[in-house]
Amino acid sequence: MPHLFSPLKIKNIELKNRIVVSPMCEYSSEDGFANDWHLVHLGGMAVGGAALIITEATAVSPEGRISSADLGLYKDEHITKLKQITDFLHAHGAYAGTQLAHAGRKASHLQPWLGGKQVPSNEPNGWKAYAPSAIAFVDSEEAPLALDKAGIEKIKADFKAAAARAVAAGFDVIELHGAHGYLLHEFLSPASNKRTDEYGGPFENRIRFLLEVIESVQEVWPAENPLFVRISATEWTEGAWTADDSVALAKILKDKGIDLIDCSTGGNIAGVKIPLKPGYQVEFAEKVKKESGILTGAVGLITKPHQADEIIQEGEADVIFIAREMLRDPHFALRAAHELGHEVEWPAQYVRAKW
Ligand SMILES: Cc1cc2nc3c(=O)[nH]c(=O)nc-3n(C[C@H](O)[C@H](O)[C@H](O)COP(=O)(O)O)c2cc1C
Repeated sequence: MPHLFSPLKIKNIELKNRIVVSPMCEYSSEDGFANDWHLVHLGGMAVGGAALIITEATAVSPEGRISSADLGLYKDEHITKLKQITDFLHAHGAYAGTQLAHAGRKASHLQPWLGGKQVPSNEPNGWKAYAPSAIAFVDSEEAPLALDKAGIEKIKADFKAAAARAVAAGFDVIELHGAHGYLLHEFLSPASNKRTDEYGGPFENRIRFLLEVIESVQEVWPAENPLFVRISATEWTEGAWTADDSVALAKILKDKGIDLIDCSTGGNIAGVKIPLKPGYQVEFAEKVKKESGILTGAVGLITKPHQADEIIQEGEADVIFIAREMLRDPHFALRAAHELGHEVEWPAQYVRAKW
């Protein structure tokens, strides 16, 4: 059996293969609600054989959205449509994950296809962003408000309430979005966290907010269900968050009951050059896995079945997160099985199209 198709048990789920749909913002919601776009978009990838499908960054509060069109889990009313989606994913052999997120200083922006610019807080569909420190992502943007203690407590409660709704919506996995310069990452990084209280300064203080968010999620998220964290394993620049910091964090998260670290990079410091090439972030999944012993996911320019299979075979990561290739081909997993010479079950409706 190809390594990409070997099952993997993580707590109460057993992935049928190592192919995970990476979270991808669709900017297609109104007031956080999922709709038929999300059902078709995510459902197609379940039909296409992925083992685990993770929703886009799903905001835990309205002000935690990147744009006014983000998906959310900040109202009980959001649950019904998401439950229909998770039921569909389950019926087609996939597990359902949600990526709980708060955009921090990157909140209140336009959808990318409308230009992606910040929407000033005094304009319709704009609001004031919150961050660990009052430092804008780029100088041309309105600076966020630095969170006070009450604000920090509110966000911890928002993550907890969203996690409880994720249970009601039938999700099997929660991934906390600690990457790409959004709020949890902003606390981790010395580049965006200049606080002088117990949430800023040394490494132990900068990771405190993430650890507290994890604890509040764990109060409602069943202990037998997997809990993942996506991090930016490096910021690709001196004097910022490093791969060694990621290993140190992973050891702590492992002890805290986190099951898997999804190793992305970057996104918190404007203008940094990222050396893009196929599999450019795999080395971080490998380092974190080997030096901390936690399960990891590799992501980023992994587009070919043999490439993905080799990463698993070499023990560089435990699962492969695939984003853009899934948009090109939602049936990537069925194609991968074919290209790797492995027999998998096809949806009955599609069997006549089998290679
Ligand atoms: C359309 C789109 C939306 C994305 N939205 C998210 C998101 O909501 N959360 C996240 O962590 N990453 C997001 N990403 C990043 C992807 O999950 C992934 O890490 C990145 O695209 C690299 O993987 P790839 O080369 O397979 O596309 C997004 C990427 C794309 C292309």
